[in-house]
Amino acid sequence: MFIRPRRLRLTQAIRDLVAETDLRPRHLIQPYFVQNAEGIVPIDAMPGIARTGIEATVKQVEADLKLGLKSVLLFGVPDEKSALAEHSHDAHGIVPKTVTALKKAFGNDLIVMTDVCLCAYTDHGHCGIVKDGYVNNDESVAILAEMALTHAQAGADIVAPSDMMDGRIAAMRARMDDEGFQNVGILSYAIKHSGAYYGPFREAADSAPKFGDRRSYQMDPRNAREGLKDALLDIEEGADILMVKPGIHNLDLIWRLKEACLLPICSYHVSSEYSAVKAGERLGWLNGDQLMYEQLISLRRAGSDMIVTYAGREAVTKGWIK
Ligand code: PBG
Ligand code: ZN
Repeated sequence: MFIRPRRLRLTQAIRDLVAETDLRPRHLIQPYFVQNAEGIVPIDAMPGIARTGIEATVKQVEADLKLGLKSVLLFGVPDEKSALAEHSHDAHGIVPKTVTALKKAFGNDLIVMTDVCLCAYTDHGHCGIVKDGYVNNDESVAILAEMALTHAQAGADIVAPSDMMDGRIAAMRARMDDEGFQNVGILSYAIKHSGAYYGPFREAADSAPKFGDRRSYQMDPRNAREGLKDALLDIEEGADILMVKPGIHNLDLIWRLKEACLLPICSYHVSSEYSAVKAGERLGWLNGDQLMYEQLISLRRAGSDMIVTYAGREAVTKGWIK
């Protein structure tokens, strides 16, 4: 007897029959960079991605909803920055205003997630409050909890802290619960490595650190167990969903975290992963459309229940997924 595994790869219909993984619009979370000024400002380092004013954001989300993309992740690009990041928790800031507009327009048809971090709001670009050259954990956490509350008050469904301070999940949970927002979820950036991964994003959000780097709060890419340890702490503190970031570089961690807990797992297909494919495509060196799809499907195969990706919209419009 000769065993022929190729029988199951014979036709498209048979391949579809035995496919173990799929990718649907419902799995995708589309990021948005929102600004006060009306209009659309393309980001050089991220082809296809732009900063948008509130009106333009609402219009684009309406189009995305028609494609089946039901989740957005909002990043604020504020007009003003300061040492103590006061605008991060301004009820009239760009993120709360956008959340309110989106919820008014789309209600529960849309899931509004908001990034919670200070780096776009501090004048030095670090993700927390700097004291004596070091990001002070507990002072940062107090402000981050106010920021999460402000987003909850504006109507956010889920807040997504990306700052990497210790104890922020518990602090946000307590602050939101105190004010009656028990039903607002927390998507924790639980495992987040430091490095060059986020370069294009920092152009989009204007959030690059003006001195030093983020290695005293984001994780060392040499470590895996450290990330799992922190992720399990986030569960104890009350996280609802755990994120692994960057995704393609951490397929092992997506898999291991999935095995280690029972929460839904989100991965972030980050800006450098997206832009690297776009750059190769522009140079004519690779098939960008196919490669982007293959990256997203590998994130699903590794165990991602959902994926934050800049390629969400084109995944549907270009027919990679239905
Ligand atoms: C803010 C934040 C970053 C990303 C998500 N939230 C940048 C950073 O940590 O410097 C990166 C996303 C991407 O690169 O696409 N802390
Ligand atoms: Zn940050």
